[in-house]
Amino acid sequence: KAGLKYFGAATDSPGQRERAGYEASYAQYDEIMWNSGEFGQTTPTNGQKWTFVEPTRGGFNYTEGEIVTSLARKNGKYLRCHALVWHSQLAPWVESQEWTPEELRKVIVDHITHVAGHWKGQCYAWDVVNEALNEDGTYRESVFYKTLGEEYIKLAFKTAHEIDPKAKLYYNDYNLESPSAKTEGAQRIVKLLRKEGIRIDGVGLQAHLVAESSPTLDQHIDAIRGFTKLGVEVALTELDIRLKTPATPENLALQRAAYKNVVGACVQVCGCIGITLWDFYDPFSWVPHVFEGEGAPLLWFEDFSKHPAYDGVVEAL
Ligand code: XIL
Repeated sequence: KAGLKYFGAATDSPGQRERAGYEASYAQYDEIMWNSGEFGQTTPTNGQKWTFVEPTRGGFNYTEGEIVTSLARKNGKYLRCHALVWHSQLAPWVESQEWTPEELRKVIVDHITHVAGHWKGQCYAWDVVNEALNEDGTYRESVFYKTLGEEYIKLAFKTAHEIDPKAKLYYNDYNLESPSAKTEGAQRIVKLLRKEGIRIDGVGLQAHLVAESSPTLDQHIDAIRGFTKLGVEVALTELDIRLKTPATPENLALQRAAYKNVVGACVQVCGCIGITLWDFYDPFSWVPHVFEGEGAPLLWFEDFSKHPAYDGVVEAL
């Protein structure tokens, strides 16, 4: 298990499960999640996002976020907290109006002050800014960028550090798992903050991968080293490896190899400190809702039997 501090799985609250059309109660699921010893860490997949925690301006509500974070406390799991500033699952009131720079600065500072303040001391890490980059490494035209330019990134990290100085502060994004214009963009963000003396501790590689076309072991290693060289730690924060459904022996074998490569790369690079699956149970994955014709991206099938990829992960650890 080399330099890894944790191997974990993100999870949603039973209430959200129910709203998504599943049973709220899944004893076997909860047993694996909390009691089996498979996972030493968790992340709430939804409950800490802006739309839940500040649905109206100044109307802070931690009910949804507390469900998973309190289970993490009770069961002694490392907690990654997710996500303070993100263009998606943003409360409509933030998106649906024009802000002056001054107003939006206050909106961001107030949000982080309350939310990071609420969970102060409980988060091993916070995803402070999520998905700020386009595939070509330029900044995404979110309400934050349009109003403040890259200043919003500096402001978010500065504020998060002031509010919860012990949490590791991460920039988190997808498609950072092999070297590209986007990984260079993320390196640029790290350097920008460091140059200004603003704390950033880590880069989160979401690692939403595709079984049929995943990076090689060496590509993963190069991408991770590209960040650790800058003096920040790395974590795989939302790992899943989807395949074209239905699952077959062939695509499950590709998935097994892909899991082994990405987990193996993290284990082999000192400075890659943790791995989080984006849930562990296929029926609760976000993938089929978003990627047409794809699914089965996790390590447990619907009947709670394990994917071949489970053994690939074990081999890599
Ligand atoms: C996803 C959740 O898993 C879904 O339940 C929700 O409907 C949409 O968001 N990148 C992220 C995560 O940073 O927060 C996203 O999670 C997946 C992509």
